[in-house]
This record gives sequence, structure tokens and C-alpha cells, in this order.
Amino acid sequence: MTDASVNKLTCEYLDNPLGIDVTQPGLSWIIESEQRGQKQTAYQIRVASGQDLLRRDFADLWDSGKITSDQCVLVPYKGKPLKSRMHCYWQVRIWDKDDTWSPWSDINMWSMGLLEKDDWQAQWIGRNRNLNDYPAEFRGKDLRLPPSPFLRKTFELDETPAKATLYVTALGLVEPSINGDKVGKRMFVPGWTDYNKRIYYHTFDVTHYLFKGENSIGAILADGWYAGYVGFCLDQNIPNPRNQYGDTPALLCQLEVELENGEKQVICSDSSWTTAIGPIKEADLFMGETYDACSELLGWNLAGYIEKTWKPVDLIEPAKGVLEAYPTVPVRMTGEMTPVEITEPEQGVYLFNMGQNFAGFARIKVTGEAGSKVVIRYGEMLHPDGSLMTENLRFARAIDTYILNGDGTELWQPRFTYHGFQYVEVRGLSFVPDEHTVTGIIVNSDIHPAGRLECSDDMVNQLYSNILWTQRSNFFEVPTDCPQRDERCGWSGDAQIYVRSAAYNANIASFMRKWLVDLVDAQKNDGIFTDWAPYSFVFKNEQASGWVDAGVIVPWVIYQMYGDKRLLEYMYPAMQKFIDYMNNRSDGYLLAANENDWGDWLAIGAQTSLDYLASAFYAYDVKLMAEMASVLGKNSDIDYYTDLFEKIRLAFKDKYVASNGRISEHTQTSYTLALYFGLLDSQQEARAAKYLADLIKENNGNLATGFLGVKHLLPSLTRFGYTDIAYQLLLNTDFPSWGYSVVNGATTIWERWNSYTIDGGFNPDGMNSFSHYAFGSVCEWMFSVMAGIDAKEVGFRKILLKPQPNKRITYVNSHYTSLYGRIESSWKIRDNDLVLDVTIPANTTAELHLPAVNIKQVKENMAPVDQSVGVRFIEIKDDLVIFELESGSYQFLSEGIADHF
Ligand code: BGC
Repeated sequence: MTDASVNKLTCEYLDNPLGIDVTQPGLSWIIESEQRGQKQTAYQIRVASGQDLLRRDFADLWDSGKITSDQCVLVPYKGKPLKSRMHCYWQVRIWDKDDTWSPWSDINMWSMGLLEKDDWQAQWIGRNRNLNDYPAEFRGKDLRLPPSPFLRKTFELDETPAKATLYVTALGLVEPSINGDKVGKRMFVPGWTDYNKRIYYHTFDVTHYLFKGENSIGAILADGWYAGYVGFCLDQNIPNPRNQYGDTPALLCQLEVELENGEKQVICSDSSWTTAIGPIKEADLFMGETYDACSELLGWNLAGYIEKTWKPVDLIEPAKGVLEAYPTVPVRMTGEMTPVEITEPEQGVYLFNMGQNFAGFARIKVTGEAGSKVVIRYGEMLHPDGSLMTENLRFARAIDTYILNGDGTELWQPRFTYHGFQYVEVRGLSFVPDEHTVTGIIVNSDIHPAGRLECSDDMVNQLYSNILWTQRSNFFEVPTDCPQRDERCGWSGDAQIYVRSAAYNANIASFMRKWLVDLVDAQKNDGIFTDWAPYSFVFKNEQASGWVDAGVIVPWVIYQMYGDKRLLEYMYPAMQKFIDYMNNRSDGYLLAANENDWGDWLAIGAQTSLDYLASAFYAYDVKLMAEMASVLGKNSDIDYYTDLFEKIRLAFKDKYVASNGRISEHTQTSYTLALYFGLLDSQQEARAAKYLADLIKENNGNLATGFLGVKHLLPSLTRFGYTDIAYQLLLNTDFPSWGYSVVNGATTIWERWNSYTIDGGFNPDGMNSFSHYAFGSVCEWMFSVMAGIDAKEVGFRKILLKPQPNKRITYVNSHYTSLYGRIESSWKIRDNDLVLDVTIPANTTAELHLPAVNIKQVKENMAPVDQSVGVRFIEIKDDLVIFELESGSYQFLSEGIADHF
């Protein structure tokens, strides 16, 4: 009997997903075992169309039989062809290192969505915009926002339903409900895409929402990204700041019911539905929501409701996009916050400090007279006089309004808006509030956490917490730059800089894959990727270096973290087209700046030229293309891109680099990029790294990089032996540094090094977010160097454990859950010894680099290592003893070493 068990099954990275449309889904599982060196030598997968069938050993869709293979990640389904609506129940067992089989895993499932065009019988419906629908007080105002239409239909079921599935999507946003209950917990359905390219539908199991007899289905629509304000349109006087994709929200839904007698009934959105305007007077992502509880349509989504002001819906001309299954984790409410302080800066104006900057909204609990109005404003910071600071929201009004109906205690929260904030200001209360009056509701894409890290330095711990919160607030349907102002776009530069850090913190495989589809959808005909995706509005001639390159860099990083070749295959033609475009634009293998380059955005200190950045990123893209061609076995492309990279590198070196490694630009960013991207001759690298180290010293030991430099800075320093300087940069608290924001009270990562300074107060520029993840890109170094968890082979199939301690930190505890399971690396300094605890998941191996000058210094579980099971000594190199480790948990001790750090 083996002790290995098979757990945490996922299909296309998701837990029991409903309504997928990948016809050969990738199946993954995690093997858990207490034994060292445990691994999978074979597997068997069974898939059946019914759970009970599987229990009776009857796998009608696929029985793989015993397959000799160690693959446990993204094993492609190879059973009977998958068709629309199929339910697939599956389980796995494995054979372990001794060829003993494990018990079968628990049964998991996935279901197929509507794969064929004619599976859809539903029609797009909505309510044509009509000024009479607008509440009088909003008509004619500059900031006129339309109310949310309510849609409904009743229908009869002759029998109790055995199974019912709702497929639903919208142009705009939709909240579906059945018999009075909101369907599922998803919010901001269907999410953001280029609706003219693809529209995602969501699938819900609604069996338990329905019963025999008269039932009712309802939907509330809102503008969302489709027709509401998006991006910085208002700020830039873009002529049509709303309605980027269309002007009328619409619903498409299909409720498919199987009755107990075997009959089927399908209820579709069509002209038989009716619509009314209800209490949601305004709903906009940036502007906020206004809810008039006096105009509630009580019982509107129940059968038996008497329609008074309702009228037939309008059929709506749909956007051109194809219907596809929502491919990733949805946005949901993921937590609640209680205020830590309540103040009253002005009489009757209450400020709730939530103690943490996050994305979401406030839920209020109020009493008062019918018709009285509670106005809720949001802000990230306070002015010195204690009032709410909203200047940095720019044109995002960020106000929610609730009009009471006077019926006892009223509880309300918005549905179709969100804000980035730490402070909530409430006006119009008729009572003195307490901490139950306002609850902070955290909203974001509900992505599984992956890694966590904690160390002996409180400032670093707070910095790490700030990174996590900033990621949480900005992984909101797309990776956004910020959650508060009139922007919230999927800026590609920010994403490529931060993506590796993000992947350490959360399992972003499917989230980023979805965004890469957005990026390809946005790609211009000439091949250039865009500065943000989805690319809703056109700004200027966007093609900024460091931004457009996301189309090559992000797929590569995601491949490194998860090993999914399919993503590279999907991206490859788009990437080729992009490189062709860059080649055409290049002159003598170098690129010149674009008219609208952003440069090393928000760098503080000496600037790196735009031309330099353009050529450096071009070179790096081509280098990665050669790598990706090799992964995909495209042999002629490998030679082509390798050769092209060398030509660009030589031209770059000729123009910018002296033979002694000095770069003519002589900035921290120029060195850090040249080193990280491999643009120098090997004999120049050490010299260039020394110049970089000296530049930092000359700058009082502080960094001077912007978005593009910052991610590469600490990794480059470490790679060339300056880990002590990297630690210094991490631990600095004077200006400019990460620590400066922390000691000044930050709970998230700021957009600028000088978003706030003690001397200057808030940066006067309106573009001043306090929740912007780009500078949080130091996180990947914290994991890979400080904690020492990195991938030796893609997807962490083989792990590199190489903690590089520093005496200013006395311990680090960390873990990272890869697709294979939980990796742990924790070290502490005890007396003068280094104690390291590591865990390597079953079915993987690791290479451990332990600081020690000879092997006798090293003990495993207090015994000499050569007697240990699972440990194989490889070599001693550069004061590191290198071992190969099999899976399992180990404690190593490196004696008398701490003086060296
Ligand atoms: C965004 C950034 C983005 C930048 C481009 C800003 O307004 O917030 O994060 O990358 O524009 O320069």
C-alpha cells in the first residue's frame, strides 16, 4: 500500500468548472505523501457522464488505462469527443515509485458549455435608452447617467426539475435572479472583453432555484465596461467618453431545464420578457451607484408579481463578438472589513477609516425617514485637516447614494460599481453611526492564493502585505493599473513588469491567459501590441516600449511558472507578427523612440533615453522568441531569432556600451536592463554590474528607477554578486524607497516614489494612485532570492532552492504552491548557524544551493548529509554546497556560516 494520495484535481486550472468550451481540457492533480522521493510512475484517469457510473466502475467517456508517465499537470483529455452540455465526472489514481497504486481520488467534475452556434436560441433583449427613464433630477445634467433596466419573465414547469442550467451573458453587466434569489455569487458578469471580438457567457447550475409550478427569472442590467465610463476618456477629452462598445446594455440568457419525467424545457431571453425601471437610478463603474429604495419593485423577480409599469423588452442588435465560455475565475466578494476609526471632520459628516486600502464598496446599515438621502464618498487618503482627499480620483466621481424608504433598518450595497479606497465618508445620517453602520466589502477576481512570505523585519512584512493588497485590488477581471481613478485599464507595461511577482502570490494561470487573449484581440493589423488591453478607446499613437513588449514577455513568464505550452502555441503567430513589425521599424537593428513613448515611467533621478529602452526591449523580445521557438520545436525560427538577437545585441553594444562595460546612458535602469536582458559581452558584465553598484552608492544607497527598471534591479544585482546592495535597497526607509511609503503609513503600493513625501505632501499631479502594483515587482526577488524559491525547470517540475540570507534579516518563512503542490523554504540564523527547512512536493525534485564552504559544515537532521535518504551531493561552487533533493521535507544546518552574510 502506498501512502501517496491524489488530491486537488483541476480542469483547465479551475475547480469543477461549469460550462467550459475547451474540447481537450487539461487535467491536473497534486500528489501528497509523507515519504521522501515519492513520485508518480503511471496514472489512470476515468471520466464518466454520471457520478454514479464512476462509482460503479463504468467510465463511459474515457478510461485511460494505466499510462506509464510522470505527468500530473495539464494531462490532455483523450476520451470520447466532448459535446455541448456534457457533464464529465472524473477521478485519477497513480502508481508510485514502487509501482504500487494509490486509492482513486475523490470524484471531480467539469461540464461543457454551448459549443455550437445553433445551441443558442435566445435573443438579445434590453430596453432602448429613453430620456423619460432618467430621474428628473438627473436629466440634463452634465454627468447624466442612465438608470438600470430590470427584466423579467414567468414560466411554468410541469414537473420538478432534475437538472437546470443557466447560460447567461450581457453587453454591459448583468445580475441574474431566479424566484427572487440572485443566481450564484459572481459579480460583474460577464466581465470585460472586446465585445466585438468575443463575449463570454457564464454557466450556473440552478437546479435548486426552481420548482414545479410557476417560476420567475429576472435580470438587472447596467452599463459596465460596455457602455459606461472606461479608461481616462473624460480626462483626455476623448469625444465619446462613454459607450465605447455600444450604448444599450443587453441580456442574452438561456435556461435549460430537464424535468424529472425526462422532458426538456428551455426558457430564453426573447420578446416575451418585460422591462421596467426600478430603484437603480444610476450605475457606473467609476461614477458610482444611486439607489432609490422608494422606487423598489417589491417582488419583481417572483412569480405572481403584478406588473404595472412594465412594458415589453426591446430586441437589441448585438455586438459582433462570438460567444465563448468564461475562461477564468470570476469576480466575487472576497472579504469584509470593519472600520478601525470613525471621525466627524464636519458636523454630520462621518469618516470611516477602514484601516486598509482595498477595492470594493461599502455596505451601509441605516435607519431614517423615507426619502432621506445618504451620500457615500470614497477616498484613499485624508487631507491634513482630516477631510477626504479625492483629487487623485480625477473624473471618477466615486459616490454611491442611497435614498431610504423609511422601513426600519435598511441594509444596502451597490452591485455594479467599485471603488479603490481606505476611507468612506458618509453624509445624511440621522443618527450617530458606529462600526456596524459601514462594512467594507472587498471585491476582486477570486483567484487562489499561491505563495506567502514573512520575515524578521516588520517593515518588509508590511511591504509584502502592501504588495498583496495592491495585487488583490487590481486583479479585477483584467490586471488593472489602479482601482480608484478614471483609468483602471489593463496597462500592458504594468502587467509585464509585475506578472512574475503576481504569479508567486496567486495562481494567475487562467486569469493571465484570458488577458493575453484580450491582448491578441487588441493587436493592431500591422502587428503592434497595444499599451493596454482590452483596447477600448484610441488615445494617441500608442506603442510604448516596455508596454507593447508585454505580448512577448508575459507569455514567457506564464510559461515559466506553469509550463503550459498551449499558451505559447496560441501566442506564437501574434508574437511573430509583432516582431516582424518591430523589424520593419528598426534601422540598423536598432529602434528609435515612438512619438508617444512613456520611457522608464515615473523614474526618479537620471532618465534613460527612450531610444535606449526601445532597442533594449526589442532585443529582449527577440531573445525570448528564440527560446519560445525552441520550446515549440520550430527549428528554423530558432536560428532566425538567435541570429537576429545577436545582430541587435551587437548594434546595441556598438552604440551604447564601451569595451569596459560602461554604458553611455549611465543610469541604474540602463545597466540593470542590459544585464538582465543579456545584452553585454560576458567580460563586460562584471564591470557593468560594478558601475550599477557604484551608481547606487553615489545615490546614497538609493534606487532611481521607474517602472521599467525596477523589476530588474534587485535580480541583476544578485546575479552579479551584489546581493548586499539589493538587501539595502529593500530595507531602506529614506526617500526614495519602498520602505519610505511603509514608514509613512502605506497599506498598498503607491504609483510614484513621491506620491506622498513628508516635505511636499501629496504629489500635486492628479495621476497619483495609492494602489498601483508596478513598484511591487520587487516581490519576485523576495521569493526567489530572499526566500530562495525559484523554478529550475518550467512549471517548478524541478525547483531551485537557493536562499541568499543577509545578516539584517534573522529569519524568513515562505511557501509557494506550484501546480505540483506546496514548496516550502524557511530559514533562520541560530547562533552562527543557518537552519533551513524545505519541503519539495511529491513528483518533483529540487536543486538546493546552501551557503557553506565545505560539506562537513552541513548537517541534515543533525546527521552528516552523506547518510541521508533523498539527498545527493553534486558539487561545491562559489561557497555554495549544491545538492539534488528528492521530494519530501528536510532540515539542513550550515554550521558557523552566518558571519559570512
Ligand atoms: C497608468 C500607468 C500606465 C501609464 C502609461 C498611467 O496613467 O496608470 O500605470 O502604465 O499611464 O504611461
